Amino acid sequence: MEFILNNKKVRYDGDPSRRLLDVLRDDFDMTEQKEGCREGECGACAVLLNKKSINSCITAIGSLEGQEVMTLEGYRETKQYKVLEEAFAKAGAVQCGFCIPGMIMAAESLLSENPNPSEADIREGIAGNLCRCTGYNMIIEGIQMAAKEGKGLW
Ligand code: FES
Ligand code: FES
Repeated sequence: MEFILNNKKVRYDGDPSRRLLDVLRDDFDMTEQKEGCREGECGACAVLLNKKSINSCITAIGSLEGQEVMTLEGYRETKQYKVLEEAFAKAGAVQCGFCIPGMIMAAESLLSENPNPSEADIREGIAGNLCRCTGYNMIIEGIQMAAKEGKGLW
């Protein structure tokens, strides 16, 4: 099967029932996506599928024929990433960092749909992503800052 990974067409001929998370990490050497709960509850493994954040630990690779997957490795090359990265740093949102790749994916997914989110929209947008460190306020502040400083990018 073929799918698009970080804007390039790639081929995968293995077991279609494998989890996208394992295929990304083991076959494509993309390890930014973290394995947390393994059950679709924590968002640590999030990637963008057709521009929307999904949990790669509960997504079978076989369902992705022709679809567009973007991982943090690919997203890092975008202007939007740079804005989010700076805003998260300024807000002090990155502590242990484990949840951050998934939070960035959730933030991109939210901002691409709603470039001016309210605090409630942001809370809802990251509701599927757990953070053990920050109490969420700094992450929310980071996303608000990114929305403001990246005006026009989303
Ligand atoms: S590891 Fe996928 S949602 Fe937790
Ligand atoms: S910064 Fe540590 S889990 Fe979120």
